[in-house]
Amino acid sequence: MCRNKVYLIGAGPGDWELISVKGLKQIRRADVILYDFLAAEELLRFAKKSAEIICVGKQDGMHLLAQRRINQLLYEKAAAGKSVVRLKGGDPFVFSRGIEEALFLRKKGIDLEIIPGITSAFAAPESFGIPLSRRGKFTSLAVLTGRKSNKEKIDAPKADTLIYLMAVANIKQVVEALVASGRSIHTRCAFIEKATTGKERITSGRLSNIIKKAEHYQVRPPAVFVVGEVIKYARLIHAEKFKNR
Ligand SMILES: C[S@@+](CC[C@H](N)C(=O)[O-])C[C@H]1O[C@@H](n2cnc3c(N)ncnc32)[C@H](O)[C@@H]1O
Repeated sequence: MCRNKVYLIGAGPGDWELISVKGLKQIRRADVILYDFLAAEELLRFAKKSAEIICVGKQDGMHLLAQRRINQLLYEKAAAGKSVVRLKGGDPFVFSRGIEEALFLRKKGIDLEIIPGITSAFAAPESFGIPLSRRGKFTSLAVLTGRKSNKEKIDAPKADTLIYLMAVANIKQVVEALVASGRSIHTRCAFIEKATTGKERITSGRLSNIIKKAEHYQVRPPAVFVVGEVIKYARLIHAEKFKNR
């Protein structure tokens, strides 16, 4: 363990057991832990009794602490000689502000270690038996954001499998972008909510009906939206989880 150091750790997608051995080791040793709502809270029970634990996350769009304040806190705690863990959901560098925190800390001369986590982009489909690629058949994969500011267009690149994060609120625009880019309305797609937790569920369909299905089943964040024929494997690999929805 190093004092004056920040460990930027990916907690994994939801199931706390999906954290890396290396990440857990640093949680056990940390003097201070700053964590997000999406980072499995069960992991906090591994912290030292004396550890200072601070929730800085964001839920339903509401920030507990502004990003600037989080950066500053990380800096202050590390500069005060503490071993600091910054625990983030999924992977700390996948659609996360981990990079902003890392750049800020490096600029201030703070020692930093990035401990990758399992991103929900991969864990959500895989936990329902959906592979991300298959040799000779599905050979390209893209991970995208479904959240853009008003003027920015949603990306819909030509890859066999597309995985959108933060797409629930913008599903209409995502589907429009996919169809406008030439994808058939019969393309398979699925929402996977709260993956790797006791509340996980899948809602699958085609681009033609997924908006209605998402409304009907009240799909809510956090959810990953997967697009591509790889979804067909879910029924073969995890039929019991797939259900008819
Ligand atoms: C700000 S991004 C953070 C992504 C995170 N860094 C990662 O690698 O998973 C938040 C989005 O991740 C996705 N997400 C996170 N946890 C999830 C889960 N357990 N099930 C489904 N989607 C999840 C959702 O799309 C959510 O809106």
